[in-house]
Amino acid sequence: MPQLRDLRFFGRRKGKAIKPSKQRLIDELLPKLKPVLPKEGEQFDMNTFFGIHPQEVWLEIGFGGGEHIAELAKLYPTVGFIGAEPFLNGVVSLLAHLNGSHEKQTTHAHLEEGRTDNVRIWPDDVRDLFPFFKDGLFQRIFLLYPDPWPKARHAERRFINAANLKHLYRLLAPNGQLFVATDVADYAAWAIEQVAADGCFEQINEDITCPPTDWVPTRYEKKGIEAGRKPIYLVFSKKRTK
Ligand SMILES: C[S@@+](CC[C@H](N)C(=O)[O-])C[C@H]1O[C@@H](n2cnc3c(N)ncnc32)[C@H](O)[C@@H]1O
Repeated sequence: MPQLRDLRFFGRRKGKAIKPSKQRLIDELLPKLKPVLPKEGEQFDMNTFFGIHPQEVWLEIGFGGGEHIAELAKLYPTVGFIGAEPFLNGVVSLLAHLNGSHEKQTTHAHLEEGRTDNVRIWPDDVRDLFPFFKDGLFQRIFLLYPDPWPKARHAERRFINAANLKHLYRLLAPNGQLFVATDVADYAAWAIEQVAADGCFEQINEDITCPPTDWVPTRYEKKGIEAGRKPIYLVFSKKRTK
């Protein structure tokens, strides 16, 4: 019987072949933006973690193509963003967004001139980082269109589960918010059920069909809407008393 930690939550690590020009982003830019793990038992120091001293720190779990985190990082230059994504093509896409080469032909492996360095990328399972984050670090945590794992026998792989909720509870600031979006109604029902069973969070948005204020849709969301799927938005905060 595998331990829950050993289960693969994510699907593919690599999709179509990465062009040599994009490989430069992985070889040259990613090492500058990938955090070095502290020693066991130690935690990240946010004063030295980014190229800025962040007023707040936000986490995006499974950023896909990175459009969401790249857009937020521009909109909120004083916020530090940490994104985790094991799918390498997605990491390349975020790197291209950050250095401004996404729509251009050239791929210089540096950040766009004048861009604040407020993003750090973990090209792997977000759970690797959990022990290195201090309690209450994040004002916002985004879990957008998580893999639904629709088969009942794969239910343990769904990211919203009792073990991960315990981590998210510890990591969210007392007045922080956990944003979950999905266009799979069964996943939304599952998430609500898991959160209710856990008893640590409360859902704070009333209309789950209405995007929260200042919402930036992800690529997955846009594709789903084009295909006729209906997004569901769940916003949770920590319960004051459990
Ligand atoms: C359906 S995609 C959605 C991508 C993106 N959030 C969007 O809305 O466009 C789900 C993503 O979550 C990532 N993922 C799954 N488990 C993860 C984990 N434990 N840590 C980090 N990312 C994970 C997958 O690799 C995949 O790219």
